[in-house]
Amino acid sequence: MVRNTATSVVTIDRFIIEQEREHPGATGALSGILTDLALAAKMIANKVRAAGLADVLGSAGQENVQGEVQQKLDIIANETIVKAMDHGGRLCCMASEEMEEIIPIPDKFPTGKYVLLFDPLDGSSNIDVNVPVGTIFSVLSQRSTGTHGTLADALQPGSTQVAAGYVIYGSSTMLVYSTGTGVHGFTLDPLLGEFLLSHPNIRIPTTGRYLSVNDSYEEHWAEPVRALMRRYRGLDGKRAAMNVRYVGSMVADFHRNLLGGGLFAYPANAKSPGGKLRLLYECNPLAFICEQAGGAAIDGVQRVLDVQPTELHQRTPIYLGSKDDVAIASEMLGAH
Ligand code: AHG
Ligand code: MN
Ligand code: MN
Repeated sequence: MVRNTATSVVTIDRFIIEQEREHPGATGALSGILTDLALAAKMIANKVRAAGLADVLGSAGQENVQGEVQQKLDIIANETIVKAMDHGGRLCCMASEEMEEIIPIPDKFPTGKYVLLFDPLDGSSNIDVNVPVGTIFSVLSQRSTGTHGTLADALQPGSTQVAAGYVIYGSSTMLVYSTGTGVHGFTLDPLLGEFLLSHPNIRIPTTGRYLSVNDSYEEHWAEPVRALMRRYRGLDGKRAAMNVRYVGSMVADFHRNLLGGGLFAYPANAKSPGGKLRLLYECNPLAFICEQAGGAAIDGVQRVLDVQPTELHQRTPIYLGSKDDVAIASEMLGAH
């Protein structure tokens, strides 16, 4: 008997269109945003892949709004996304980790009813040593009524996201996203130049092996955080020890834990009392993905997705990952 061994080939474009058909009222705008983001991801992947050859490594010699040194690739990735997304007529505004203010849609282009928030290159301080980096994005619906969006359109709780996702530029390039109906992962076939469905309906294990935290901040953590980390490491005898894995690129750490189970934490510490990671560009989108995959995310006090943002570049502590592992953090930190 001859078996059909051909694998079904589902490109990201086909998948997006098929998902759209399940929403009869859809205008196609959200699908268009996702398709354009996939193109931007391929363009950034090309730059990242050749980074050791082209003159794009290293610092750009300037700082971003958050006082962090900008890498050349931060700027290239930022410009790539802005240029890929500003003309499609689907967005009313954007905001980027690398830019101080809301990014308006130029007057020469039509506008739409969605808002795009993004971290163009996550983990960029690792780029010079060939460690995985990523792109993170969040899509919201416009709340204001004008043709162009306002700051208030960006400052919405993460629970209102209509889509979120990330790209990881690792040993392969993957794009993982959710529109609120599960989490789906696509791997870039470098010869075809297409993202192909490789990880349909990703579910995060309810508890996991991996603990991702930078414990060089231990002396600056509050005592309940120290006790929590001792618990995760099995040092208080109340649970099996987790394995510590910390890349220092949130996307890479999160992606590993999403597939393998575990917890990523960036607690507040005495040096960064509000945490380090950004609510709008990093924590909300990854919390949305994590919850859609069956996991959870808290800031130590409450669910991340319930936080009402007050500033574009707001930071937050985060505990993100497998449900049962996050539940331990809720209990030991007294979150509700
Ligand atoms: P970005 O490169 O976008 O500024 O983000 C860096 C972040 C994040 O990716 C990572 O988890 C964290 O910084 C690492 O910080 P520490 O070096 O303090 O552990
Ligand atoms: Mn980042
Ligand atoms: Mn970044």
